[in-house]
Amino acid sequence: MTRPVARQAVDRIVEWDFDHSTDEGLLERMWHRWDELRDQSRFIKTTVAGPDDVWVMTRFEDVHAALRDHELFSNVSVTVENEVGAHRFIPEELDPPEHGKYRQLLTPWFAPAAVDAMEARVRSWCVELIERFAADGRCDVATDFARLFPTTIFMEMMGLPVERSAEMVRWAETMMHTRAADDPDGTLRQEAVAGVMEILGGLLAERRAEPRDDLISALIAAEIDGQPMDELDLLQMSILLYMAGLDTVAGELSAFFHHLATHPADRRRIVADPAVIPVAVEELLRAYSIVSTGRVVTRDVDWRGCPMRAGDRVLLPTGAANRDPLAFPDATEVAIDRARNRHVAFGAGPHRCAGSNLARMELAIALEEWHARIPDYRLDTAEPLRFHSGGVAGFSRLPLVWET
Ligand code: HEM
Repeated sequence: MTRPVARQAVDRIVEWDFDHSTDEGLLERMWHRWDELRDQSRFIKTTVAGPDDVWVMTRFEDVHAALRDHELFSNVSVTVENEVGAHRFIPEELDPPEHGKYRQLLTPWFAPAAVDAMEARVRSWCVELIERFAADGRCDVATDFARLFPTTIFMEMMGLPVERSAEMVRWAETMMHTRAADDPDGTLRQEAVAGVMEILGGLLAERRAEPRDDLISALIAAEIDGQPMDELDLLQMSILLYMAGLDTVAGELSAFFHHLATHPADRRRIVADPAVIPVAVEELLRAYSIVSTGRVVTRDVDWRGCPMRAGDRVLLPTGAANRDPLAFPDATEVAIDRARNRHVAFGAGPHRCAGSNLARMELAIALEEWHARIPDYRLDTAEPLRFHSGGVAGFSRLPLVWET
Protein backbone atom coordinates (compact mmCIF):
# COMPACT_ATOMS: atom_id res chain seq x y z
CA MET A 1 0.00 0.00 0.00
CA THR A 2 1.26 3.45 -0.87
CA ARG A 3 1.29 6.17 1.73
CA PRO A 4 1.10 9.83 0.75
CA VAL A 5 4.55 11.38 0.58
CA ALA A 6 5.32 14.30 2.87
CA ARG A 7 6.51 16.46 0.01
CA GLN A 8 7.57 19.35 2.20
CA ALA A 9 10.01 17.17 4.14
CA VAL A 10 12.73 17.23 1.49
CA ASP A 11 13.33 19.75 -1.24
CA ARG A 12 11.78 17.43 -3.78
CA ILE A 13 10.73 13.80 -3.64
CA VAL A 14 10.00 12.27 -6.98
CA GLU A 15 7.59 9.39 -7.21
CA TRP A 16 8.53 6.90 -9.83
CA ASP A 17 6.62 3.80 -10.84
CA PHE A 18 9.62 1.64 -11.24
CA ASP A 19 10.31 -2.05 -11.24
CA HIS A 20 14.02 -2.49 -11.38
CA SER A 21 13.73 -6.21 -12.03
CA THR A 22 12.31 -5.77 -15.52
CA ASP A 23 14.40 -6.18 -18.62
CA GLU A 24 15.51 -2.75 -19.69
CA GLY A 25 16.51 -3.76 -23.17
CA LEU A 26 19.70 -1.76 -23.49
CA LEU A 27 22.61 -1.08 -21.23
CA GLU A 28 22.87 2.66 -21.57
CA ARG A 29 19.27 3.13 -20.57
CA MET A 30 19.94 1.81 -17.10
CA TRP A 31 22.80 4.18 -16.32
CA HIS A 32 21.19 7.13 -18.07
CA ARG A 33 18.05 6.47 -16.10
CA TRP A 34 20.03 6.64 -12.86
CA ASP A 35 21.62 9.89 -14.08
CA GLU A 36 18.23 11.37 -14.91
CA LEU A 37 16.73 10.35 -11.60
CA ARG A 38 19.68 11.76 -9.66
CA ASP A 39 19.23 15.05 -11.53
CA GLN A 40 15.62 15.11 -10.39
CA SER A 41 16.02 14.22 -6.74
CA ARG A 42 18.20 12.82 -4.00
CA PHE A 43 15.52 10.35 -2.87
CA ILE A 44 13.11 8.69 -5.25
CA LYS A 45 10.00 7.04 -3.90
CA THR A 46 8.86 3.97 -5.75
CA THR A 47 5.69 2.10 -5.18
CA VAL A 48 5.72 -0.89 -7.48
CA ALA A 49 9.09 -2.52 -6.83
CA GLY A 50 7.88 -4.90 -4.12
CA PRO A 51 5.63 -5.41 -1.10
CA ASP A 52 6.85 -2.33 0.83
CA ASP A 53 7.54 1.32 0.06
CA VAL A 54 11.00 1.75 -1.39
CA TRP A 55 13.23 4.80 -1.18
CA VAL A 56 15.86 4.87 -3.90
CA MET A 57 18.96 6.87 -3.00
CA THR A 58 20.69 8.51 -5.93
CA ARG A 59 23.65 10.36 -4.40
CA PHE A 60 27.05 8.95 -3.59
CA GLU A 61 27.26 10.39 -0.08
CA ASP A 62 23.85 8.96 0.88
CA VAL A 63 24.46 5.49 -0.59
CA HIS A 64 27.89 5.38 1.04
CA ALA A 65 26.49 6.41 4.44
CA ALA A 66 23.55 3.98 4.25
CA LEU A 67 25.83 1.05 3.33
CA ARG A 68 27.83 1.75 6.49
CA ASP A 69 24.94 2.34 8.90
CA HIS A 70 23.85 -1.20 9.72
CA GLU A 71 21.87 -0.15 12.79
CA LEU A 72 19.45 2.03 10.87
CA PHE A 73 19.57 0.04 7.62
CA SER A 74 19.30 -3.70 8.21
CA ASN A 75 20.43 -6.36 5.74
CA VAL A 76 17.61 -8.70 6.73
CA SER A 77 16.39 -8.49 3.12
CA VAL A 78 18.65 -7.19 0.37
CA THR A 79 16.15 -7.70 -2.46
CA VAL A 80 13.48 -5.03 -2.25
CA GLU A 81 11.06 -6.96 -4.43
CA ASN A 82 10.88 -9.90 -2.00
CA GLU A 83 9.09 -10.19 1.33
CA VAL A 84 11.40 -9.90 4.35
CA GLY A 85 12.33 -13.47 5.30
CA ALA A 86 11.86 -14.88 1.77
CA HIS A 87 15.44 -16.13 2.05
CA ARG A 88 18.45 -15.74 4.32
CA PHE A 89 21.58 -15.43 2.25
CA ILE A 90 24.59 -15.87 4.52
CA PRO A 91 26.48 -13.68 5.36
CA GLU A 92 24.83 -10.91 3.30
CA GLU A 93 21.42 -11.03 4.98
CA LEU A 94 22.74 -11.11 8.54
CA ASP A 95 23.38 -8.02 10.64
CA PRO A 96 26.32 -7.49 13.00
CA PRO A 97 27.30 -9.01 15.36
CA GLU A 98 25.96 -12.33 13.94
CA HIS A 99 27.18 -11.37 10.47
CA GLY A 100 30.86 -11.18 11.51
CA LYS A 101 30.90 -14.75 12.81
CA TYR A 102 30.08 -16.11 9.36
CA ARG A 103 31.95 -13.54 7.31
CA GLN A 104 35.26 -14.31 9.04
CA LEU A 105 35.03 -17.91 7.77
CA LEU A 106 35.35 -16.59 4.22
CA THR A 107 38.12 -14.06 4.83
CA PRO A 108 41.15 -16.39 4.48
CA TRP A 109 39.82 -17.77 1.19
CA PHE A 110 39.60 -14.35 -0.44
CA ALA A 111 42.61 -12.64 1.18
CA PRO A 112 45.21 -11.20 -1.24
CA ALA A 113 47.69 -14.06 -0.71
CA ALA A 114 45.03 -16.73 -1.33
CA VAL A 115 43.88 -14.96 -4.48
CA ASP A 116 47.46 -14.52 -5.75
CA ALA A 117 47.93 -18.26 -5.36
CA MET A 118 45.02 -18.82 -7.77
CA GLU A 119 46.36 -16.54 -10.48
CA ALA A 120 48.03 -19.13 -12.71
CA ARG A 121 44.89 -21.32 -12.77
CA VAL A 122 42.60 -18.38 -13.41
CA ARG A 123 44.81 -17.17 -16.25
CA SER A 124 45.11 -20.55 -17.92
CA TRP A 125 41.35 -21.09 -17.75
CA CYS A 126 40.78 -17.62 -19.22
CA VAL A 127 43.14 -18.34 -22.14
CA GLU A 128 41.54 -21.73 -22.76
CA LEU A 129 38.10 -20.15 -23.02
CA ILE A 130 39.20 -17.33 -25.36
CA GLU A 131 41.04 -19.75 -27.62
CA ARG A 132 37.83 -21.73 -28.10
CA PHE A 133 36.38 -18.90 -30.24
CA ALA A 134 39.24 -16.49 -31.13
CA ALA A 135 39.67 -17.99 -34.62
CA ASP A 136 35.90 -17.87 -35.34
CA GLY A 137 35.82 -14.08 -35.62
CA ARG A 138 32.68 -13.93 -33.48
CA CYS A 139 31.21 -14.96 -30.16
CA ASP A 140 28.52 -14.00 -27.74
CA VAL A 141 30.79 -12.56 -25.08
CA ALA A 142 28.05 -12.76 -22.44
CA THR A 143 27.40 -16.48 -22.80
CA ASP A 144 30.65 -17.81 -24.31
CA PHE A 145 32.99 -15.98 -21.97
CA ALA A 146 31.72 -13.58 -19.30
CA ARG A 147 29.54 -16.16 -17.58
CA LEU A 148 31.58 -19.31 -18.05
CA PHE A 149 34.82 -17.75 -16.82
CA PRO A 150 33.83 -16.95 -13.20
CA THR A 151 31.61 -20.02 -12.98
CA THR A 152 34.49 -22.38 -13.51
CA ILE A 153 36.66 -20.55 -10.99
CA PHE A 154 33.85 -20.81 -8.45
CA MET A 155 33.36 -24.51 -9.21
CA GLU A 156 37.06 -25.23 -8.64
CA MET A 157 37.19 -23.18 -5.47
CA MET A 158 34.16 -24.92 -3.99
CA GLY A 159 35.31 -28.34 -5.15
CA LEU A 160 32.44 -28.82 -7.64
CA PRO A 161 32.86 -30.87 -10.83
CA VAL A 162 33.96 -28.37 -13.47
CA GLU A 163 32.29 -30.42 -16.21
CA ARG A 164 28.93 -29.35 -14.76
CA SER A 165 29.72 -25.62 -15.30
CA ALA A 166 27.32 -25.34 -18.25
CA GLU A 167 24.42 -26.54 -16.08
CA MET A 168 25.37 -24.14 -13.28
CA VAL A 169 25.47 -21.29 -15.80
CA ARG A 170 22.04 -22.19 -17.14
CA TRP A 171 20.51 -22.38 -13.68
CA ALA A 172 22.07 -19.11 -12.57
CA GLU A 173 20.69 -17.43 -15.68
CA THR A 174 17.19 -18.83 -15.07
CA MET A 175 17.21 -18.20 -11.33
CA MET A 176 18.31 -14.62 -11.55
CA HIS A 177 17.20 -13.29 -14.89
CA THR A 178 13.94 -14.93 -15.88
CA ARG A 179 11.35 -12.22 -16.37
CA ALA A 180 8.13 -12.73 -14.42
CA ALA A 181 6.20 -12.47 -17.70
CA ASP A 182 8.11 -15.48 -19.07
CA ASP A 183 7.52 -17.58 -15.95
CA PRO A 184 4.24 -16.40 -14.40
CA ASP A 185 3.88 -19.24 -11.87
CA GLY A 186 7.62 -19.38 -11.07
CA THR A 187 8.07 -22.98 -12.27
CA LEU A 188 11.22 -22.29 -14.27
CA ARG A 189 12.87 -20.44 -11.41
CA GLN A 190 11.90 -23.11 -8.89
CA GLU A 191 13.39 -25.80 -11.11
CA ALA A 192 16.62 -23.83 -11.38
CA VAL A 193 16.82 -23.36 -7.59
CA ALA A 194 16.17 -27.09 -7.14
CA GLY A 195 18.96 -27.88 -9.65
CA VAL A 196 21.46 -25.69 -7.82
CA MET A 197 20.38 -27.07 -4.43
CA GLU A 198 20.76 -30.62 -5.72
CA ILE A 199 24.32 -30.07 -6.89
CA LEU A 200 25.36 -28.10 -3.79
CA GLY A 201 23.58 -30.57 -1.47
CA GLY A 202 25.34 -33.46 -3.20
CA LEU A 203 28.66 -31.77 -2.72
CA LEU A 204 27.98 -31.22 0.99
CA ALA A 205 27.18 -34.92 1.46
CA GLU A 206 30.36 -35.97 -0.37
CA ARG A 207 32.61 -33.66 1.62
CA ARG A 208 31.07 -34.64 4.92
CA ALA A 209 32.02 -38.22 4.11
CA GLU A 210 35.42 -37.33 2.70
CA PRO A 211 36.77 -33.82 3.38
CA ARG A 212 39.21 -32.21 0.94
CA ASP A 213 41.21 -28.99 0.76
CA ASP A 214 38.38 -26.86 -0.58
CA LEU A 215 36.10 -24.09 0.67
CA ILE A 216 33.08 -26.33 1.22
CA SER A 217 35.05 -28.77 3.41
CA ALA A 218 36.34 -25.79 5.41
CA LEU A 219 32.79 -24.50 5.94
CA ILE A 220 31.59 -27.95 7.03
CA ALA A 221 34.41 -28.13 9.58
CA ALA A 222 33.86 -24.56 10.84
CA GLU A 223 32.05 -23.72 14.07
CA ILE A 224 29.80 -20.80 14.98
CA ASP A 225 29.58 -20.26 18.76
CA GLY A 226 31.09 -23.71 19.25
CA GLN A 227 28.55 -25.46 16.98
CA PRO A 228 28.91 -26.67 13.39
CA MET A 229 26.66 -24.98 10.84
CA ASP A 230 23.51 -26.90 10.02
CA GLU A 231 22.73 -28.09 6.49
CA LEU A 232 20.44 -25.15 5.70
CA ASP A 233 23.01 -22.54 6.74
CA LEU A 234 25.68 -24.29 4.68
CA LEU A 235 23.40 -24.31 1.67
CA GLN A 236 22.45 -20.66 2.15
CA MET A 237 26.10 -19.69 2.35
CA SER A 238 27.02 -21.76 -0.71
CA ILE A 239 24.18 -20.35 -2.77
CA LEU A 240 25.11 -16.78 -1.84
CA LEU A 241 28.70 -17.41 -2.94
CA TYR A 242 27.41 -18.89 -6.17
CA MET A 243 25.26 -15.85 -6.94
CA ALA A 244 27.69 -13.25 -5.59
CA GLY A 245 30.69 -14.64 -7.42
CA LEU A 246 29.19 -15.50 -10.81
CA ASP A 247 26.52 -13.04 -11.71
CA THR A 248 28.53 -10.00 -10.66
CA VAL A 249 31.74 -10.79 -12.53
CA ALA A 250 29.70 -11.88 -15.57
CA GLY A 251 27.65 -8.67 -15.48
CA GLU A 252 30.68 -6.42 -15.10
CA LEU A 253 32.64 -8.20 -17.82
CA SER A 254 29.76 -7.85 -20.24
CA ALA A 255 29.44 -4.13 -19.43
CA PHE A 256 33.21 -3.68 -19.87
CA PHE A 257 33.13 -5.36 -23.30
CA HIS A 258 30.13 -3.34 -24.38
CA HIS A 259 32.00 -0.14 -23.52
CA LEU A 260 35.24 -1.21 -25.18
CA ALA A 261 33.46 -2.45 -28.32
CA THR A 262 31.76 0.93 -28.69
CA HIS A 263 34.66 3.19 -27.57
CA PRO A 264 37.62 2.36 -29.85
CA ALA A 265 39.97 4.95 -28.29
CA ASP A 266 39.67 3.29 -24.86
CA ARG A 267 40.10 -0.14 -26.43
CA ARG A 268 43.23 0.96 -28.31
CA ARG A 269 44.67 2.43 -25.11
CA ILE A 270 44.29 -0.93 -23.36
CA VAL A 271 45.88 -2.78 -26.28
CA ALA A 272 48.79 -0.32 -26.57
CA ASP A 273 49.38 -0.02 -22.85
CA PRO A 274 48.24 -3.09 -20.88
CA ALA A 275 49.81 -1.58 -17.75
CA VAL A 276 46.75 0.72 -17.62
CA ILE A 277 44.42 -2.27 -17.12
CA PRO A 278 44.23 -2.27 -13.29
CA VAL A 279 43.30 1.44 -13.32
CA ALA A 280 40.92 0.91 -16.25
CA VAL A 281 39.19 -1.89 -14.31
CA GLU A 282 38.48 0.54 -11.45
CA GLU A 283 37.14 3.16 -13.85
CA LEU A 284 34.89 0.74 -15.69
CA LEU A 285 33.67 -0.63 -12.37
CA ARG A 286 32.84 2.92 -11.31
CA ALA A 287 31.15 4.02 -14.52
CA TYR A 288 29.23 0.76 -14.96
CA SER A 289 28.42 -0.39 -11.45
CA ILE A 290 25.84 -3.12 -11.64
CA VAL A 291 24.80 -3.94 -8.06
CA SER A 292 21.70 -2.37 -6.50
CA THR A 293 21.38 -3.79 -3.01
CA GLY A 294 18.53 -3.24 -0.59
CA ARG A 295 18.09 -2.55 3.12
CA VAL A 296 15.19 -2.48 5.58
CA VAL A 297 14.71 0.66 7.69
CA THR A 298 14.73 -0.31 11.39
CA ARG A 299 12.94 2.72 12.93
CA ASP A 300 10.94 5.78 11.99
CA VAL A 301 13.39 8.51 11.10
CA ASP A 302 13.80 11.72 9.19
CA TRP A 303 17.00 10.74 7.40
CA ARG A 304 18.74 13.66 5.75
CA GLY A 305 15.30 15.10 5.12
CA CYS A 306 13.71 11.88 3.88
CA PRO A 307 10.71 10.70 5.95
CA MET A 308 11.36 6.98 6.44
CA ARG A 309 9.32 4.59 8.53
CA ALA A 310 10.32 1.31 10.16
CA GLY A 311 9.85 -1.45 7.58
CA ASP A 312 10.36 0.78 4.53
CA ARG A 313 12.94 -0.49 2.09
CA VAL A 314 15.83 1.44 0.66
CA LEU A 315 17.46 0.63 -2.64
CA LEU A 316 21.12 1.59 -2.91
CA PRO A 317 22.10 1.62 -6.59
CA THR A 318 25.88 1.72 -6.80
CA GLY A 319 25.34 2.58 -10.49
CA ALA A 320 23.71 5.89 -9.48
CA ALA A 321 26.11 6.68 -6.62
CA ASN A 322 29.28 6.17 -8.63
CA ARG A 323 28.16 8.52 -11.41
CA ASP A 324 27.30 11.36 -9.04
CA PRO A 325 29.00 14.57 -10.25
CA LEU A 326 29.24 15.76 -6.64
CA ALA A 327 31.58 12.83 -5.94
CA PHE A 328 33.56 12.49 -9.21
CA PRO A 329 34.55 15.07 -11.84
CA ASP A 330 32.99 14.28 -15.24
CA ALA A 331 31.25 11.44 -13.47
CA THR A 332 29.17 10.20 -16.37
CA GLU A 333 32.21 9.95 -18.66
CA VAL A 334 34.76 7.13 -18.71
CA ALA A 335 38.30 8.46 -18.10
CA ILE A 336 40.14 5.20 -18.59
CA ASP A 337 43.15 6.27 -16.48
CA ARG A 338 41.23 8.17 -13.80
CA ALA A 339 43.57 8.61 -10.84
CA ARG A 340 41.37 9.11 -7.75
CA ASN A 341 38.62 6.56 -7.79
CA ARG A 342 37.08 5.75 -4.43
CA HIS A 343 33.94 4.15 -5.85
CA VAL A 344 31.41 1.91 -4.10
CA ALA A 345 31.05 -0.72 -6.83
CA PHE A 346 31.96 -3.30 -4.18
CA GLY A 347 29.77 -1.68 -1.53
CA ALA A 348 31.06 -0.25 1.77
CA GLY A 349 30.82 -0.98 5.48
CA PRO A 350 30.46 -4.40 7.08
CA HIS A 351 29.09 -6.09 3.94
CA ARG A 352 31.68 -4.70 1.54
CA CYS A 353 32.30 -7.37 -1.08
CA ALA A 354 34.16 -10.33 0.41
CA GLY A 355 35.38 -11.38 -3.04
CA SER A 356 36.70 -8.05 -4.35
CA ASN A 357 40.34 -9.23 -4.58
CA LEU A 358 39.28 -12.21 -6.65
CA ALA A 359 36.90 -10.13 -8.76
CA ARG A 360 39.58 -7.54 -9.55
CA MET A 361 42.00 -10.27 -10.54
CA GLU A 362 39.44 -11.99 -12.79
CA LEU A 363 38.51 -8.72 -14.50
CA ALA A 364 42.13 -7.67 -15.10
CA ILE A 365 43.16 -11.08 -16.42
CA ALA A 366 40.15 -11.16 -18.73
CA LEU A 367 41.06 -7.78 -20.25
CA GLU A 368 44.75 -8.70 -20.55
CA GLU A 369 44.31 -12.09 -22.18
CA TRP A 370 41.43 -11.03 -24.42
CA HIS A 371 43.17 -7.96 -25.85
CA ALA A 372 46.41 -9.88 -26.38
CA ARG A 373 44.45 -12.19 -28.73
CA ILE A 374 41.50 -10.11 -29.98
CA PRO A 375 42.60 -6.46 -30.02
CA ASP A 376 39.95 -5.12 -32.39
CA TYR A 377 36.25 -6.00 -32.25
CA ARG A 378 32.84 -4.44 -32.54
CA LEU A 379 29.20 -5.19 -31.74
CA ASP A 380 27.58 -7.62 -34.16
CA THR A 381 24.69 -5.41 -35.18
CA ALA A 382 22.99 -8.28 -37.02
CA GLU A 383 22.28 -10.02 -33.72
CA PRO A 384 20.10 -8.75 -30.86
CA LEU A 385 21.61 -7.58 -27.57
CA ARG A 386 19.85 -8.42 -24.38
CA PHE A 387 20.32 -6.63 -21.07
CA HIS A 388 18.88 -7.43 -17.65
CA SER A 389 18.58 -4.96 -14.79
CA GLY A 390 17.62 -5.82 -11.22
CA GLY A 391 19.83 -6.44 -8.18
CA VAL A 392 22.73 -7.36 -10.46
CA ALA A 393 22.57 -5.96 -13.99
CA GLY A 394 24.42 -6.99 -17.13
CA PHE A 395 24.06 -8.43 -20.58
CA SER A 396 22.47 -11.80 -21.19
CA ARG A 397 23.40 -11.55 -24.88
CA LEU A 398 26.26 -9.49 -26.32
CA PRO A 399 27.40 -10.68 -29.76
CA LEU A 400 30.78 -9.39 -30.95
CA VAL A 401 32.62 -9.78 -34.28
CA TRP A 402 36.25 -9.25 -35.33
CA GLU A 403 38.55 -9.90 -38.28
CA THR A 404 40.61 -13.09 -38.11
C1 HEM B 1 32.96 -7.38 -10.14
C2 HEM B 1 32.39 -8.31 -9.41
C3 HEM B 1 31.71 -8.05 -8.10
C4 HEM B 1 30.98 -6.96 -7.70
C5 HEM B 1 30.66 -5.70 -8.50
C6 HEM B 1 30.53 -7.24 -6.35
C7 HEM B 1 29.78 -6.36 -5.59
C8 HEM B 1 29.36 -6.62 -4.30
C9 HEM B 1 28.64 -5.70 -3.49
C10 HEM B 1 28.17 -4.29 -3.92
C11 HEM B 1 28.42 -6.28 -2.29
C12 HEM B 1 27.72 -5.66 -1.08
C13 HEM B 1 26.26 -6.05 -1.07
C14 HEM B 1 25.51 -5.41 0.08
O1 HEM B 1 26.00 -4.47 0.71
O2 HEM B 1 24.39 -5.88 0.35
C15 HEM B 1 29.01 -7.60 -2.34
C16 HEM B 1 28.98 -8.51 -1.32
C17 HEM B 1 29.51 -9.78 -1.40
N1 HEM B 1 30.27 -10.28 -2.42
FE1 HEM B 1 30.75 -9.35 -4.15
N2 HEM B 1 30.98 -8.47 -5.97
C18 HEM B 1 31.71 -9.00 -7.00
C19 HEM B 1 32.36 -10.21 -7.01
C20 HEM B 1 32.36 -11.14 -5.99
C21 HEM B 1 33.06 -12.39 -6.01
C22 HEM B 1 33.95 -12.91 -7.15
C23 HEM B 1 32.77 -13.03 -4.85
C24 HEM B 1 33.20 -14.37 -4.35
C25 HEM B 1 33.29 -15.46 -4.99
C26 HEM B 1 31.91 -12.16 -4.08
C27 HEM B 1 31.41 -12.43 -2.84
C28 HEM B 1 30.65 -11.56 -2.09
C29 HEM B 1 30.11 -11.90 -0.77
C30 HEM B 1 30.30 -13.21 -0.03
C31 HEM B 1 29.40 -10.78 -0.36
C32 HEM B 1 28.64 -10.62 0.95
C33 HEM B 1 29.57 -10.01 1.97
C34 HEM B 1 28.93 -9.79 3.31
O3 HEM B 1 27.71 -9.74 3.43
O4 HEM B 1 29.69 -9.66 4.27
N3 HEM B 1 31.69 -11.02 -4.81
N4 HEM B 1 29.60 -7.77 -3.57
